[in-house]
Amino acid sequence: MAIPEKDSSRAARLRHEIEKHDYQYYVLDQPLIPDAEYDRLFRELQALEKQYPELLQYHDSPTQRVGGKPLDAFQKVFHSVPMLSIRTETDISDEGAIAFDARVRRELKLGESEPPVEYSCELKFDGLAINLRYEQGLLVQATTRGDGETGEDVTQNVRTIHCIPLRLRGCDASVLEVRGEVYMSRRDFERYNEKQRAHGLPTLVNPRNGAAGGIRQLDPGLAAKRRLSFFAYGLGEVRGWELPATHSTLLDSLGRMGVPVSTERAVVKGAPGLVDFHRRVAAQRDSLPFDIDGVVYKVNSLALQQKLGFVTREPRWACAHKFPAEEQMTVVHDIDIQVGRTGKLTPVAKLEPVFVGGTTVSNATLHNEDETRRKDVRIGDTVIVRRAGDVIPEVVGVVLDRRPENAGKPFDLDRLLHGHCPVCGSAIVREEGEADWRCSGGLFCPAQRKQALLHFAGRRALDIEGLGDKLVDQLVDGGIVSTPADLYDRDKLNLQKLAGLERMGEKSANNLIDAIENSKQTTLARFVYALGIRNVGEATAKDLARHFGTLEKLMHADETQLQLVPDVGPVVAQSIVAFFAERHNVDVIRELLRGGVTPQESAGMPVETLPLAGRTFVLTGTLGIAREIAKEKLEALGAKVAGSVSKKTDYVVAGSEAGSKLDKARQLAVPVMDEQQFIEFMESMEARHET
Ligand code: IVH
Repeated sequence: MAIPEKDSSRAARLRHEIEKHDYQYYVLDQPLIPDAEYDRLFRELQALEKQYPELLQYHDSPTQRVGGKPLDAFQKVFHSVPMLSIRTETDISDEGAIAFDARVRRELKLGESEPPVEYSCELKFDGLAINLRYEQGLLVQATTRGDGETGEDVTQNVRTIHCIPLRLRGCDASVLEVRGEVYMSRRDFERYNEKQRAHGLPTLVNPRNGAAGGIRQLDPGLAAKRRLSFFAYGLGEVRGWELPATHSTLLDSLGRMGVPVSTERAVVKGAPGLVDFHRRVAAQRDSLPFDIDGVVYKVNSLALQQKLGFVTREPRWACAHKFPAEEQMTVVHDIDIQVGRTGKLTPVAKLEPVFVGGTTVSNATLHNEDETRRKDVRIGDTVIVRRAGDVIPEVVGVVLDRRPENAGKPFDLDRLLHGHCPVCGSAIVREEGEADWRCSGGLFCPAQRKQALLHFAGRRALDIEGLGDKLVDQLVDGGIVSTPADLYDRDKLNLQKLAGLERMGEKSANNLIDAIENSKQTTLARFVYALGIRNVGEATAKDLARHFGTLEKLMHADETQLQLVPDVGPVVAQSIVAFFAERHNVDVIRELLRGGVTPQESAGMPVETLPLAGRTFVLTGTLGIAREIAKEKLEALGAKVAGSVSKKTDYVVAGSEAGSKLDKARQLAVPVMDEQQFIEFMESMEARHET
């Protein structure tokens, strides 16, 4: 049956629109429309495709990213242009870069007086190499590198990677093979592991394994769960497309076709340029959103690349220059239990100090009892320690064939502690469905009190400089301070008392009192974070402050109201309610305010940058959530809330028994959401706003 022209062109239009929004969201990280609107486009396309299955013949529809059935095995695919690897410079000092430039100049027979060679410098992504084959601009096949000659067909899984275009923009070359690295961002890796940990399931060792394992799942549904990403760094077979003159402009072209290309790259001249890039990236390494294990230098001119050619399997025109490894082996001397701010008991491996990810590490977290047991970490074991980004170092696994005869017993937290908190002696508990043991001592436990104080004074909280571990130990053990409010009470904490402490000079004492005084002026977000509410990190604290605007409103919010805040689900909402239900906590807050701490109660952002800026909403009917809260929430995202429906209204939110406003909306074809849709809409808007 022929598809009516109006429907086939509508489908094409929708595919184009959705592709554009995928690109904005997944590649540029700049969504143009709310999720709900995207979902509407998506569903409309799905409906058309259901009606006319012929629309799917080219498989480039964004609805077809996931949907493939699990395979029995991957097909082998021969690479028409072999996938080579590059020489790795293991000398991590500047010498690595200098040696590469010298080699290139020698091969090109350049004399000393001749100008420096131009290089394209890139990151060395730590994932898995993939070849994406586009024919007439359509993604037709994706393959792993394999042995370089033959790889495996992983097309189904690669289609689930949202940032990879199913169709190139403005390129209909008969063949264009794009090569690059599939990787897992640190954030997606942490999120995946947190979920697994919470369910007592095995965690991924590192993002690279996450990416490699994800791509090799036979079930594309499982691959999609890993939320992988991609960066292009080169080409394979090319037919019907004219190559630019340089590698850097080649990457620019790929970027314009909608292929993700990292912006962290540079065109430099000579060895000094390489050295500079290596140093600059090394300094940024921890703050990148993904793992890299070094940088890659490539001779920028494609003509010179050709002239240089290959030695065996490696191009002479490229080289990888490594950074210190993010994983190392070392020995576990002991396993300690740390008591956290909320009483959480965390097993920590005491290690033979090891240089990893750029620093010396002697403690690494084992997360919790289940994970320690699953990995079967024992005293005396040789383990692999990972430290990447600013994440706390962790033990990722045991090297079993190095286990000594006299290694310790399997880990058992309860037995190790004889059922008592190692600091205060209170009973330890592990509630059903919880992965963590906790000390039941609350703020009676000095460890929790100390941690609470340190957290309160931390850089991201009230930022009281000079109030570190040692001092907090002395203040708490000496009975001078027991709650954050005591810091502001000059009867309790004053120069005279400080003078009596060990290693406390007059100057430091003065500085400390000044720092405490200065911390009184703070923001609501910092203050909320500083309280140390379980499950409320910095980001959530910011959202809470932005959403509620005042401390009083936050303190009185119930679980339903709290769940309207981005990323606040039932668990977080419950923690917040439980915190404010505790008399002691409210007393401390009141004392803090009385002591002069003044959280500044509006932490707004410029309206034009907010995701709902310029949108007008009308709320009508009876809503389960308070109308005022819905309004504030919308306004916090930049929207206007109007009283009546007109052509200028973008959305109507209709509760039960909505009347004339709803009729008017239908008349004017204004999109209408029910309350459930509204809640989901707000969640997704805020989640995007968040990222
Ligand atoms: S270029 C012929 N560039 O590192 C040159 N490779 O041995 C082909 N890698 O597993 C490679 N980032 O997947 C190149 N910016 C980058 C890279 C990169 C990571 C990986 C690649 C391969 C290994 C190179």
